[in-house]
Amino acid sequence: MKIFNTIAELQSELNSHRDEKIALKVGLVPTMGNLHKGHISLVNIARQHADIVVVSIFVNPTQFGVGEDFDSYPRTLDDDLAQLKTAGADIVFAPSVNEMYPTYPPNVQVLSGGMAQILCGKSRPTHFDGVGLVVGKLFNIVRPDVAIFGKKDYQQLAIIRQLNDELNFGIKIIGAEIVRADDGLALSSRNGYLTPDKRAIAPVINQTLQKIKADILTADFENYANIMQKYHNDLTNLGLTVDYLELYNDRLQAPTPDDKNLVVLTAVFVGKARLLDNLEITL
Ligand code: PAJ
Repeated sequence: MKIFNTIAELQSELNSHRDEKIALKVGLVPTMGNLHKGHISLVNIARQHADIVVVSIFVNPTQFGVGEDFDSYPRTLDDDLAQLKTAGADIVFAPSVNEMYPTYPPNVQVLSGGMAQILCGKSRPTHFDGVGLVVGKLFNIVRPDVAIFGKKDYQQLAIIRQLNDELNFGIKIIGAEIVRADDGLALSSRNGYLTPDKRAIAPVINQTLQKIKADILTADFENYANIMQKYHNDLTNLGLTVDYLELYNDRLQAPTPDDKNLVVLTAVFVGKARLLDNLEITL
C-alpha cells in the first residue's frame, strides 16, 4: 500500500499504472479518516469494481460550519493506515489542508442546490456545498471510474449523484449499505463522542426507524404524517433532541401515494453527538 500527501505524487503513481494497462479501473473511497467497519465495507466494494483502490483521508474544513467539530474531529492516521492495509487498499491519499486548498477560503464554490437545503441542510446550511466542493476536487484529482459512498449519509449520496450527473464526471457511483453495531446503532466516527450511558440509549434511534417501517408498511398514505409525529414525540419524550425525523421518497422528495420506494431519515442529538440514521422502505 502506498501513501501520498501531495496531488502531484498521487497523479504520477496513477498515471504510471494507466500507462501500463489499457482500461485500468480506478476506484475511489473518500473518507475523513477515523475508520471503522463501515468505511472498510466501502473499500471491499471498491475492490470488487476496480483494479486500483484509492482511499482518501481528509478532514475537509469547507464542510464544517462555525462552531462545529472540525478541530476536535478524531484524527487517527496510524490506525487508519493499519486497517486499510489489512483491507487491501492500494493507495492512500492523505493531503494537508494547504495541499487541497492553497487559497483559503477557496474562491470557487460548489452550490449543491435545493437538495442541500432540506434535512441536514437546515441545521448545516453550507455543509453540502463544502462536500460538493471537496468531492468534486477529489473526482478531478483521482479521475476514478467508480466511487463508493455509504447510504448512512443518504442525503450526501443523493447530492453526490447529482454533482456527478450535472457536472458530467461520468463516474459510476455506488451506494453501500449501512454497517451497524450488533445492537443496530449505525457505525459512525461521531459515536466516539458518546459517553457510556448515552451509548446505551443510542440504539433507540434504529429501533424507532424499524418501528416506523413496520407501521408504514401496514398503513394508508393518509396516516403517514400521524405515524411520523407519534415517533417524533416518543424520541423527544426519552429526552432526546430530534433535529429531524422525515419520510421522503428515494429521490428525497415529499412522498406521493404513487411512490413505492420510501426512506425514513433522522438526525438525533444524543448527548454531544448528532447521530444520523435512515431506513429504506419498499411498499
Ligand atoms: P466520512 O464520514 O468519513 O464517511 C466516509 C464514507 O463512509 C461516506 O461515504 C459514508 O457514508 C461512509 N460511511 C460512514 N459510516 C458508514 C456506515 N456505518 N456504513 C456504511 N458506510 C458508512 O462522509 C464523509 O466522510 C465526507 O463527507 C466525505 C464524503 C469524505 C467528504 O469529505
